[in-house]
Amino acid sequence: MKGVIRMRIIRAKDYNEMSRQAANIISAQVILKADCVLGLATGSSPVGTYKQLIEWYEKGDLDFSQVHTVNLDEYVGLGADHDQSYAYFMHSNLFDHINVKLSNTNIPNGLDPDAARECNRYDRVIRSLGGIDLQLLGLGPNGHIGFNEPCDEFVPGTHCVELTDTTVDANARFFANRDEVPRKAYTMGIRDIMQAKSVLMVANGKNKAQAVKDCFFGPVTPKAPGSILQLHPNFTLVADEEALSLVKDLL
Ligand code: F6R
Repeated sequence: MKGVIRMRIIRAKDYNEMSRQAANIISAQVILKADCVLGLATGSSPVGTYKQLIEWYEKGDLDFSQVHTVNLDEYVGLGADHDQSYAYFMHSNLFDHINVKLSNTNIPNGLDPDAARECNRYDRVIRSLGGIDLQLLGLGPNGHIGFNEPCDEFVPGTHCVELTDTTVDANARFFANRDEVPRKAYTMGIRDIMQAKSVLMVANGKNKAQAVKDCFFGPVTPKAPGSILQLHPNFTLVADEEALSLVKDLL
């Protein structure tokens, strides 16, 4: 398939190597365009990448003072001071450790109960920045990107989603119990992600192997939302051996 030919796959031995490779690509972006717009993700996949970026920033090799950021998603109902909100995650895993200006960082406001208003606002934010230069993504075990869950059609702009049971199960590990996991989230849409000039995905671990196979070695379908990236002109997947374990004979 055409899309598969375009996409780059970087094979990493393990999580650390995946994180270093991804951080290298993000660093190159920040060095080449100091005022770039970075689309950012939360979750366990990018934590090592952020750690590496922080290390290089501390060494003096990176400067984020002109960088703008837009995050993919946020749980509806959680504010920035809730320790499981994505705003909290971004502060503790990246923003508090580098010289990005907080006024240049953007995350959907999970506390706005008016979904249409918040989603329109967020789409306007992305447009006002002139789009995204590099979008970092993780991959859900069900193939989701951002919180674009498997469904019957791709949704273009920022929208409010009902999280699937698989996603609630996957994210329950971060909460005291499953009942505390919010059931809704605001997420960037597929158009926003596809319009990024480049897209970088990090995927590690056995529980991503099926999603990697479905999304990048099967048909493009909203049932496996990440599959749309096969059509992106500049998409790089950095994945460890376990995440690539079901496709190693196809590489
Ligand atoms: C996070 C996000 C999600 C995660 C995905 C993988 O902002 O948008 O799509 O990237 O659920 O999560 P982890 O990395 O925790 O396996």
